[in-house]
Amino acid sequence: KSVVHRLWKGSVSVGMLSPRLQRAVKDYLSANKHGVAYKGRRSARQKGKQLLCEMKRKSRVRTLDGAELPFSKLGWKRIVPASPLQQLYGSRFGSCAVVTSAGAILHSGLGKEIDSHDAVLRFNSAPTEGYERDVGNKTTIRIINSQILANPGYHFNTSSLYKNVTLVAWDPAPYAVNLHKWYSSPDYNLFTPYIEHRKHFPAQPFYILHPKFIWQLWDVIQGNTLENIQPNPPSSGFIGIMLMMSLCEEVHVYEYIPSLRQTDLCHYHERYYDAACTLGAYHPLLYEKMLIQRINVGSESDLKRKGKVTLPGFSTIHC
Ligand code: C5P
Repeated sequence: KSVVHRLWKGSVSVGMLSPRLQRAVKDYLSANKHGVAYKGRRSARQKGKQLLCEMKRKSRVRTLDGAELPFSKLGWKRIVPASPLQQLYGSRFGSCAVVTSAGAILHSGLGKEIDSHDAVLRFNSAPTEGYERDVGNKTTIRIINSQILANPGYHFNTSSLYKNVTLVAWDPAPYAVNLHKWYSSPDYNLFTPYIEHRKHFPAQPFYILHPKFIWQLWDVIQGNTLENIQPNPPSSGFIGIMLMMSLCEEVHVYEYIPSLRQTDLCHYHERYYDAACTLGAYHPLLYEKMLIQRINVGSESDLKRKGKVTLPGFSTIHC
């Protein structure tokens, strides 16, 4: 059985990946670039409701608010948006869509369904123009990694992809979350372009995720997986799913767990093929996906035909 078949059933292990991807996982484990030192438990026994309650408890969305050093000294209280992300939209969204950038969404015809949700989350430089039939054209929030801000090739300041939406940026900090160290040597320098952007477009909601939030999500993935997962932050996809579970009553995730259209095409908008995009190399993507599969309340046919997973919002779960 293929890795994707195993994903649908919720039982995969690193040993099912190609030798190349297994090697990559091993190399990331031994490099441990972010100094991960996990001391919690490892179990794979929690079922849907228990797992959801743990996620709800441990995945409180947190963004930089300028109250902590070194940001407080640098005047960040006046740089970050006045209202926190969790309060930006007043009462929550009903139904939300999370649209991953996977190649498998091509020829899905899911555009109309995606746009019918109250809010739509997209990632990084994924376009809608020219792909409306398959991915829709509504964007409410866009999660961007620090490379989008730091690498001039993405035209962050001028591209329409990053206008008229709420922006949420992130960058991997050390696991111990030393904000001083992070500020002086981020993976990619997102701080300078962030400040510039805030000055030019003060009315656009734009947040940076707190690294503590990112690593808490990682802890939840490791805590519910028996194998040692890659000691690198979760993918933007997982971060986005957890964010929307906090903001919405119901979350519909498209092509995170691959449908029958599964392909090695990395992104729907690029002619680049690599199975690592779907199964993970740097990110603990395989394990993230298993976790999401375990809390899926949607049908098997939605999964296979639409690549769609349906998840309850945290506000609807009573623990
Ligand atoms: O590549 P990028 O991070 O911009 O894609 C956004 C998210 O979509 C990823 O973080 C990952 O969670 C998901 N994705 C996927 N399979 C792919 C490509 C992206 O699951 N082939």
